Amino acid sequence: MLSSMPDLLSWRRRFPVLARKTYLINNSLGAMPETVPLALAEYTGLWAEEGVIAWDTWLPEIARVAALLEDIIDAPRGSMTMCQNVTNALAAVLSCLEYEPPRNRLVSCAGEFPTVEYLLDSQRHLGAEVIRVGSDPLVFPAEQLLETIDHRTLLVVVSHVLFRTGELVDVRPIVQRAHDHGALVVLDAYQSIGSVPFDVVDLGVDFLVGGSVKWLCGGPGAGYLYVRPDLVDRLEPRIAGWFSHARPFGFEPPPIVYAPGISRFLGGTPNIPAFYQAREGYRIIREVGVSAIREKALRQSQLLIEGALERGLTVRTPYDPERRGNHVTVDFPGAEPVKNELLRRGFVIDHRPGAGIRIAPHFYNTDEECIAILDEIVDIRRRMPD
Ligand SMILES: Cc1ncc(COP(=O)(O)O)c(C=O)c1O
Repeated sequence: MLSSMPDLLSWRRRFPVLARKTYLINNSLGAMPETVPLALAEYTGLWAEEGVIAWDTWLPEIARVAALLEDIIDAPRGSMTMCQNVTNALAAVLSCLEYEPPRNRLVSCAGEFPTVEYLLDSQRHLGAEVIRVGSDPLVFPAEQLLETIDHRTLLVVVSHVLFRTGELVDVRPIVQRAHDHGALVVLDAYQSIGSVPFDVVDLGVDFLVGGSVKWLCGGPGAGYLYVRPDLVDRLEPRIAGWFSHARPFGFEPPPIVYAPGISRFLGGTPNIPAFYQAREGYRIIREVGVSAIREKALRQSQLLIEGALERGLTVRTPYDPERRGNHVTVDFPGAEPVKNELLRRGFVIDHRPGAGIRIAPHFYNTDEECIAILDEIVDIRRRMPD
């Protein structure tokens, strides 16, 4: 029986794009909830009608939106704040560090998202030794990473789900090893939040960074940061702005007096409209529940893996359900032009060089859509000149 669980499919009508396209690109840009225009109208309405008084509603909205995320990953209340993107969040974390040999190593693996790699690389001129473990971005070098973490390691940055292959990383041994050696861990959860259930406290990471564009269906401009509550007040981000001050409206001269808790990471004027927009996706993900999303995704990724193998495609995603996130990457000669034709035919997916076509169904996709895209790939390949 191909049909997906009907209760989840009832969400389909809440996402307009699903009526127009076979939308399987949820690890890149999740579908927009139909309520987003209303949420943005709420934001603009406040500005139009209240003028500067709107800030009295806008500012508390930041913690309210972050609280939705805290619920999704079981983070303690007040342990997360909003920012613009992963780049900003990670830069703020890095700006807390002192690179004092021998503990001056930043450690990450070859499959990280480039923004993370660029930021880590940028720390060399401040005295960081930047270690990139492994050379194949398609395979997570778990053992090698554990061996690399030692007393020289200051910070480990690791993706929860690798963006190319969808490999789900076992984070706990990494955190254990890092903490045993006095190092801290940042989890880039962009590809797992809203798709794979986890409890951030239970994982034990010191920081979590992510954004809203993908599985959270929150659109661009709303990143976020979690910091371990017992750590946050010991951190002094150099990338800090007036909203990081204990009294932002005191307009006091430096040195900064940091706001208590996570607010010290707020920086400058917050990106309010993005938070109004993102909250609509967060609310839905919280209501649907990440466990239900994951249960369905495991079944659909299995369908995709088996269906791709039957059709002679190479599967880049681990077959083991415990080692994969919710997207499946398939590859074959000519994958890029096939991607272009798929887009022309209304099948929305993407292609990553060296990895292949990423197929990412979400809770609102049907099993039939998963099979249809595989058949479409076969059809396009058959018609394409060699
Ligand atoms: C794992 C991961 N990290 C980070 C990013 C993006 O970083 P930023 O929010 O800075 O654009 C992406 C994709 O856009 C990603 O897949």
